[in-house]
Amino acid sequence: MLNLEEELQKLSNISTLDELDNWHQAILGKKWSITEALKNLGNLSPEEKKIQGGQLSSMKNTLQNEYQKHFDMLKTAEINEQLWKEVIDITLPWTEIDLWHFSLLTKVRRELEEIAHSMWFIVESWTDAVSKFENFEAVNIPVSHPATEMHDTIYLSEKDERGENYVLRTHTSAWQNYVLRKYWVPIKAVLPWRVYRFENVDATHDTMFYQFEWVYVDKNVSIWHFKSIITRFLSAALQKDVEIRMRPWYFPFVEPWFEIDTRYEYNNPKTGQKEMSKWMEILWAWMIHPEVLRNAWINPDEWWTGFAFWMWVNRLAAVRYWIKDIRYLTNGDLRFAKSW
Ligand code: PHE
Repeated sequence: MLNLEEELQKLSNISTLDELDNWHQAILGKKWSITEALKNLGNLSPEEKKIQGGQLSSMKNTLQNEYQKHFDMLKTAEINEQLWKEVIDITLPWTEIDLWHFSLLTKVRRELEEIAHSMWFIVESWTDAVSKFENFEAVNIPVSHPATEMHDTIYLSEKDERGENYVLRTHTSAWQNYVLRKYWVPIKAVLPWRVYRFENVDATHDTMFYQFEWVYVDKNVSIWHFKSIITRFLSAALQKDVEIRMRPWYFPFVEPWFEIDTRYEYNNPKTGQKEMSKWMEILWAWMIHPEVLRNAWINPDEWWTGFAFWMWVNRLAAVRYWIKDIRYLTNGDLRFAKSW
């Protein structure tokens, strides 16, 4: 016959969860003592059954409660011990972890932003996805014009308030309308970010690249301002005496339009030999069309004029750091990324 005091005594002496489990199986488990004793009650008279049954089940409850308390205590102790073992040992010698690293493109872009700030231009950025209106019409490109095709790139399924699909901006000019409306005129702003294009990828072309666009609108702005700002910016950005060439060229929707090239040389770092030297286009410049100003509620008849130009940051990085292929800048190769 089970003795309550004895079992409680045993229970309080148990110090591991395994032992506790054994005890539980033997005393309270399906096949064991209490269950058996309860089954045997069947042979007794009804009065006896009542008395013994009552005693047995109150004993079972007491033991079950005590068991649960004991289990909780041992479990907590076990968890605490585990936590204590796994606690970080702050006395261990430390190792340097490379948490982050600027990509070369970010480094160059930030330098360009510094130059822009020093020339009292503000730096603005906005969303990757823009409406067709912002990307095309606001800067005077009719959506149906074939020239939009060379810009056609990634459309999203989300639609703008005109019910047209948003597009990943194909040029930072897609932000012109936004900044002109936000700051109005006069304005000196740079818009430096990624753009996405439908391109055949090669050593000097990529489907995603960084434009660094300048927007300047004031009263009576002329090509004279235009050229002096570009020259200052270029000499600061290129950081060395490189040759520059400015060519008037044709681009639909704007007049005049200039393309600016610089010398792109590649010296083999091992041999020091010049392996390549050619002109590379890095900057495009134009007068802002009066229609673009009107789209931002600016009246060009009140002598507001402006110009814009953008630099291809990836190409500038290639020229500055003698990088043979601009795809290195974005392909995620850590050996390249960490070497700057
Ligand atoms: N920003 C465009 C580019 O990336 C050119 C452009 C200029 C488009 C003016 C429309 C109006 O080359």
